[in-house]
Order: sequence, then structure tokens, then C-alpha cells
Amino acid sequence: MMNLQISSFDDYESAYNHSVSDPESFWAEIAQNFQWRKPWKKTLEWDFTTGTTKWFAGGKMNITENALDRHLATRGDQPAIIWESNDPQEESITLTYKMLHQRVCQFANVLKKHGAKKGDRICIYMPMIPELAIAVLACARIGAIHSVVFGGFSSQSIADRINDAQCNIVITSDGSFRGNKEIGLKSTVDDALIQCPSVQKVIVSTRTRTPVSMLKGRDVWWENEVKTVSSDCPAEEMDAEDMLFILYTSGSTGKPKGVVHTCGGYMVYTTYTFANVFQYQPGQVHFCTADIGWITGHSYIVYGPLCYGATSLMFEGVPTYPDAGRFWDVIDKHKVDILYTAPTAIRSLMGFGLDYVNDKDLSSLKVLGSVGEPINEEAWHWYNDHIGKGKSPIVDTWWQTETGGILISPIAGITKTKPSYATLPLPGVQPILVDEKGEEIVGNGVSGNLCIKFPWPGIIRTTYGDHERCIQTYFSTYKNLYFTGDGCMRDEDGYYRITGRVDDVINVSGHRIGTAEVENAINMHLGVVESAVVGYPHDIKGQGIYAYVICEKSTGHDSDLTRRDILATVTRVIGPIAKPDKIQFVSGLPKTRSGKIMRRILRKVAEGDTSNLGDTSTLLDPSVVDEIREGAL
Ligand code: WT7
Repeated sequence: MMNLQISSFDDYESAYNHSVSDPESFWAEIAQNFQWRKPWKKTLEWDFTTGTTKWFAGGKMNITENALDRHLATRGDQPAIIWESNDPQEESITLTYKMLHQRVCQFANVLKKHGAKKGDRICIYMPMIPELAIAVLACARIGAIHSVVFGGFSSQSIADRINDAQCNIVITSDGSFRGNKEIGLKSTVDDALIQCPSVQKVIVSTRTRTPVSMLKGRDVWWENEVKTVSSDCPAEEMDAEDMLFILYTSGSTGKPKGVVHTCGGYMVYTTYTFANVFQYQPGQVHFCTADIGWITGHSYIVYGPLCYGATSLMFEGVPTYPDAGRFWDVIDKHKVDILYTAPTAIRSLMGFGLDYVNDKDLSSLKVLGSVGEPINEEAWHWYNDHIGKGKSPIVDTWWQTETGGILISPIAGITKTKPSYATLPLPGVQPILVDEKGEEIVGNGVSGNLCIKFPWPGIIRTTYGDHERCIQTYFSTYKNLYFTGDGCMRDEDGYYRITGRVDDVINVSGHRIGTAEVENAINMHLGVVESAVVGYPHDIKGQGIYAYVICEKSTGHDSDLTRRDILATVTRVIGPIAKPDKIQFVSGLPKTRSGKIMRRILRKVAEGDTSNLGDTSTLLDPSVVDEIREGAL
């Protein structure tokens, strides 16, 4: 295994100091642990005013040689991926590094057979089955850029993403199993493709045997295709700064943007953070419960663990099927060492009580991780006491799709933890807090907007097809800083606590949803005049979605029916994850004279805090506030 682990707090401090005093030599030393075909020419080039960062440019490599080939000699027969089905009765699957390598090369040849070339964009819309990881790695093998779309998104969302990146191939499955549900995936892709002229081929793997229609000349079966090709596929030579993947994420305005990560820096950063944060030891089983459709799955199910030669457990199902003890059964069954999950899952399982936990053997667990949203103290203690039995450190890892990997987090067993704190920046990460004007807030015991002042290897490179948007979103709010969109406090010990988004993005069950996106979807419904969407505290989801909707008066609407129709519209336009939890029908929205919606008021009402709504004197029509307050749900 590579030599890049920090082993004590002193070690952390010296690594941190080195990473700040000489970032280039710090990261160059770490990057030496990887397999490069040709050394890089320049370790770092960057300019935050133009939103450009290049790490290890000129270096030639392929991430799959690091994730697969290099392990064959040393751990070819060790499990790379252990797959656990949605159905506890179905046998699990183990793919050793040798087997995974073989299957990735084979599928890479299928992609080539169908015309895929370096630089092509390939959309992947699949359930959490081994073929998903294989598809991702096969793209990387041949230098095609994967764009994984989470299996819960609608056909419209798929179409938008395919068209934005002009994908020529889609890889999907007939359907997926989630709990007791069977969901069609191919049919959703078919609906999307009506709007996607760039797509030439669709490769379909079978999972559910849901009947599907296969279009002659366009659609082929995965199982048939792999029989026609060899399993020998040399990896494409990539520059460290060639694109590896696009992953769409929501922002405060407009449609989701395609966050771009490149090969070299992303590889170094995900592997380094995986090895350090979780303190992975050879032979351990790492269980990240995320879906590969999100960045957490990209970085900590696929790339980080595999590049580090770890065993990564992939789970197809949901935490509550067949019952609320499923995670604990999986941990018991596969002797999981590291569990990496989201606060929303912990809170939901807490609600089912300890009966589902107490008879399970969780003694294999050594490290617990949390990701996606702030973890409240109650959930932290429950996780610590009942899952970790007080002996497994909790790493509360703060990061974003745009950061590629974890930025602020304890190092397991090394950094002293504190409930609800992401604690300290990892080596290479230089956080700063700024006020509204962009002035740095120095010292401890302070709060502000969280920015990062120096690039790390996993930082976003661009937003696909629109670099201006990347500059606008991340590099122009504050001069020469990367702006995270998060509020943050730094306590007396210098520990960081992320307090949540400061923009119009809400975090529902650890998923980012733009309020503008939901509003646009609601507004598409016949009879809706206007809407405003805000987040509100939700016991399990962290934040829920609260929509204020103005309907046309003339429709004389039946509000129950309209409510259901609006939910159906949002499901069709975005997907079920964006469905509002509450819809309040109103006759007007609180607007300033310049027509801007005062969201502050809407947020307060949604939070149930109607006593002090602040100054409403600048409103065009202050009377709407009374109506909204009285009708609050
Ligand atoms: C946003 C990023 C990459 C992780 C998965 C979500 C929030 C993430 C934490 C944490 C408090 C957190 C932030 C961030 N967030 N982790 N440990 N504590 N907040 O990735 O969809 O890109 O969302 O999730 O608000 O900006 P994402």
C-alpha cells in the first residue's frame, strides 16, 4: 500500500504546515505514490480570477491503471468490490481486483466497438449494481468522460444533462430494485431520448427483467455485447488535466451545472483523503452507503478506495428494507470496518428504536463517517453510543461536489472530535471566513461565509460548456477566493462547524436542490401563476421543501387536487426528491417595490417563527404577510 497516511496529531500538524508553506512540494511528494506514464511538467498553475487550476499538467496517466492494474500483482485476488443486493436473500457478489480489471477491460471494448472515443461524453443511468462501477471505470479506461445521473431523476432531467454535454452513448439497465419497489430505468431513458438527437447507442444491462422496448439500430444488451469482445484493453493515455467526469449539481440559479473533474488531481486527492480521513488499513471493508450517482459515491465508493487498493462495499438497497436493521445486518454479514453514511439516514433509523440495533454484531466497526449535511448533536450521540459503542471515532466530513473530496474533517482516531463539528482542515486546505463585504474575519470564536484561499488537487476545473458560469458561481463573489456557499463558525479551539447554505440552495436528505429549479417546475403547471420555494427544518431530512404557490383565481381550484397535480409536475420535471413537503396556497408573495421576493420572511414563516418577521415596511403590499402568516402550515 502507498505510503501517504498521517499517523499522529503531530504528523498532521507537520503535514499541514508543509502543505501551506510549500503546497507544490507537498502534493508532488504525495503524487509520487501513483503510477504515471510520464512525469508532470508543472505541479500547479492557478489563477482564481479566471477560475483556472491545473495540477500535474503534462503528466500522463490513466486512473484505471492506478485503480486496477497496479494492484494485480500485489492483491489481484483480494476483493475490490463486494456487492450486497437489495434483497437480503439474494447472494452477494465479490469481484476481486483481477475480476474487476477483466470486466472493466471487457466492457471498455464494448464501448469502443460502439464507437466511443477519448473525449466522448457518456451518460450512465443505472441502479447500484456492479455494472455501474464497471461502466464508470470502463469510460475512464478509454478516456471517455462519464456523466452519471442518479437513478431517481426524471426523464426530463436526464435529457437536460445529456443535451448539455452532448452525450453519444447512454448506459442503463432495464430497471432497479429499491426496497419493495421495482422502478423502470430504460423506459425513463426512452422518454428522455425523444429529446436527445446526439445519442447514437444505448447499452442496457439486465437487473429486474422488467419488460423493455429495444430500438433496432440503437439499443443493445450489455450481456450480449460482452460476449463479442476481448478482455484485453490497454488504458488510454490521459493528461492529468484531461476531463475524467462531469457530475451535475444544483445551484441557486438556473439549471444544474456540470461540475468537471480531471484525471490526475482528482485521483491524488480522493486517494489521499480516503486513506487519511478513514485511516483505512489493508484488508478492511469500507462501506459507503451513498449512491454512485452522487459525488460521495464517485470519490469514496469507486475512485478513492480502488486507487488505494481497498475493499469497497456497494449496497443496492435502502436502509429500511426489509426492515430498519438492514445497515446493521450488512455490517454484521460482511464484517464492515468503516461505515460512511449521512445524518438523514441516522436520524431516520434512530426513529425506529434500538430493537433493530441491539441484536446485531457491530464489533467489526472501527470508524464511522458522516457526510452531506450538518449532523445534529442528538444524531451524533446516537451514532456514537449505539453504533460505535463509544469506541469508533466519528469523522464528520465536510465537502462538496465541486471540491472532489473531503476538505474539512477529523482524521479518524487522530483528531479529537466534537459533536457537530467538522473540526479541522485537511492538509492542503486553507479555509477562511469572510464577512458580507469579503473582508477576512480573523481569530477564533467567529462566524462568516466559508471560502478557500488556495487550490487543492480535487478542486472543480470548470462547469461543462460554460466556464463563465464557473467563474460567476465560485470565484467572483469574493475576489481571489473559492466561495463554498456555506456559512461557518470557527470556535475558540479553531474548530470549524458548518452551519448550512447561505444561498438559495436547500439540502434535503443530503441532496442539494436549488429553490429556483423547484419553482420553475411548479410554475410549469397549468393554473400556477407564481411560486416561491424555501427550506425549513425537517426532523429527518434536515431540510424540507416549503412552497408558496399562487394559482389563477378563475380556475376555482380544488386545493387538494391541485396540490397533488403540482407534486406530479415536480416529479415529472425533476424527480421525486424535489417534491415539496408542504404547499401553501397564497394570493400574493411578499415583494419589494423593485419586485424582489423577500425570502427572509417566507423562510421565517416556513420555520414556524412568525413572531418577529423583521422590517416589512419596504414591501409593496405588507398585507400579504398577514395572510401568509395566518395560512402557515
Ligand atoms: C453541500 C454540498 C460532498 C458531500 C455530499 C454532498 C453540505 C456536506 C457536510 C457536513 C455540514 C455539509 C454543505 C455543502 N454538507 N457535508 N459534513 N456538514 N454540511 O455534496 O451535494 O455537493 O452538497 O452539502 O452545505 O455545501 P453536495
